[in-house]
Amino acid sequence: MSTGTIRVGILTVSDRTARGEYEDRSGPVIAELIETELAGAVVAERAVVPDDVEAIQRVLRHWADDVRLDLILTTGGTGFAPRDRTPEATRPLLDREAPGLVVAMLVASLQVTPHAMLSRPAAGMRGQTLIINLPGSPKAVRENLQTILPALPHGLELLR
Ligand code: MTE
Repeated sequence: MSTGTIRVGILTVSDRTARGEYEDRSGPVIAELIETELAGAVVAERAVVPDDVEAIQRVLRHWADDVRLDLILTTGGTGFAPRDRTPEATRPLLDREAPGLVVAMLVASLQVTPHAMLSRPAAGMRGQTLIINLPGSPKAVRENLQTILPALPHGLELLR
């Protein structure tokens, strides 16, 4: 990692998008926000996987342990549907949790919609990689990411 560059991975978790039935609309929203509002950030990796714990974990492990990204943002699979398993895939891979990020997203999102309480994201560190689950819709992605963006530069700096 070169100083000043934040290498970001965006993982879209969705059965229908992985099957090609839906286009990925949330991944591009993350990419746009990251590249315009997080100084020094570059999208280094992008992937789409189905709502499958092993498929999610394969990508997260590879991006954190081999590619050594600074930040991984997932979108989708945080809700109550039976197939929503992104937090369950993410949490066992974290060395340390970052509940402040989760609380901040929840508090801000509840100002927008009561449905915010239906999202169950995990966030935390695996080695020097910060991993954050975001909900699936483009609207929810934008609202949640905008809430935590102001704290990310300092948080990522502390991890190095
Ligand atoms: N958070 C914000 N800020 N805005 C939203 O529109 N949608 C909610 C919630 N969080 C929403 C939000 C809805 S409707 C659901 S079902 C949950 O996120 C979980 O979404 P997911 O299953 O796509 O991850």
